[in-house]
Amino acid sequence: MIITVSHLKRDFKVYKRSSGLITAMGSIFHRTYETVEAIEDISFDIQKGELVGFIGPNGAGKTTTLKCLSGLLHPSSGEIKVLGYYPYERNSNYLKEIGLVMGQKNQLWWDLPAMETFNLNKMIYGISDDEYKNTLGTLSSLLEVKDLLTTPVRQLSLGQRMKMELIASLIHKPKVLFLDEPTIGLDVIMQKKIREFIAEYNSIYKSTILLTSHYMSDVKKLCKRVIIIDHGRIIYDGNLSEIVEKYSKFKIITVYFKKPIEAKELTRYGKLKFFNREKAIITVGREKVSKIAARLLEKYDIGDLNIEELEIDEIINMVFSKNNK
Ligand SMILES: Nc1ncnc2c1ncn2[C@@H]1O[C@H](COP(=O)(O)OP(=O)(O)O)[C@@H](O)[C@H]1O
Ligand SMILES: [Mg+2]
Repeated sequence: MIITVSHLKRDFKVYKRSSGLITAMGSIFHRTYETVEAIEDISFDIQKGELVGFIGPNGAGKTTTLKCLSGLLHPSSGEIKVLGYYPYERNSNYLKEIGLVMGQKNQLWWDLPAMETFNLNKMIYGISDDEYKNTLGTLSSLLEVKDLLTTPVRQLSLGQRMKMELIASLIHKPKVLFLDEPTIGLDVIMQKKIREFIAEYNSIYKSTILLTSHYMSDVKKLCKRVIIIDHGRIIYDGNLSEIVEKYSKFKIITVYFKKPIEAKELTRYGKLKFFNREKAIITVGREKVSKIAARLLEKYDIGDLNIEELEIDEIINMVFSKNNK
C-alpha cells in the first residue's frame, strides 16, 4: 500500500472575532475560541499507480486532507503513512518522493521565466543534468510549452501558468502526487489539456495520484475510483461508474431563446432549474437528451444551446438524499 490513512482527524482552533474596542481589549485577557472539525474521521488506502478522485462540496475537508498527506499540517489524531513515511515529520527523502499542486497557489516567480523556477527545483531536489533535461523535455512537450519556457511568467495565460506549475511540481518525478483543483478557473479546452496530461503522466511514470476537482468531467475522465467526503467524513469510496450510473440519470440543457417564451411551454421537457423567459436551464433524462435538444431547436428560435453533465455537487447531493431515506 502506498498511502494509508487511518482515523485521521484534524481540528482548527478559530479565535472568535470581537467587535468594538472594549471587547477587543477584553479579549487580551480571555481569548475565546471555537474548534472547527475540518476532518472528523477519515480512513482509506491507496495502491501504487492508482489515480483516485477525492471529491466533495466546498469545506468538506479535501484541502486539509491533502495538506496532512503532504506534511504541511500535523494531524490532530489518527495516522497517515505514505511510502513508509509519516508525512508530518517532513523527512527530506519523503519530500523528494512527493509533489503537491494547488490550483489556487503558485510557486513560480512572477517576473522571471518559468525555467528559473525549474532550475531552482533541480538544485533543491538534487536532480542530475541528464535526468533534468530528460524530464523537462518530456513534460514540456506533453504540455506543449517548449517555446514558453523563457517567457516571463507574468506574460503567460492562466492555463499556461498552470502547465508551468505542473512542471515545477513534477520535475523531480515524484512517486506520489497530490493535485488540489489543478483545473480551477481554466476554460474547458485548457481543462481538457491538463486532464489529458495528468492521464499521460500517470501512465508514463506509474505514479500514484490523488486528485480533487470541482469538475465532474475531470474526475470522470481520469478516475476509476472516487472517495467522496463531506463534513470531514467519507460517504462513498468505490467505483465512479457505479454512482454516476445510479445517480446521474440526468443531463442539463441550457437554452437561450431569441424571443421570450413562457415557462409552462418548457415543463413538458424536464424539470426547470432556471427560467427568465430568454434563458432556461432544464434537467432532462439522460436517454432523452438528444431528442429533446432536437425538438427545442426545431420548435423555437434559439440563439444557443448547451448540453452538460450535472455538477459534481448535484450528484453528491443526490447520493446524500438517497442515503438519508
Ligand atoms: N487554517 C484554517 N483555520 C481554520 N479553519 C480552517 C483552516 N483551513 C480549513 N479550515 C476549515 O476546515 C474546513 C475544511 O476546509 P478545506 O479542507 O479547505 O475544505 P475543501 O478543500 O474540501 O473545500 C472548512 O470548514 C474550513 O473553513
Ligand atoms: Mg479545497
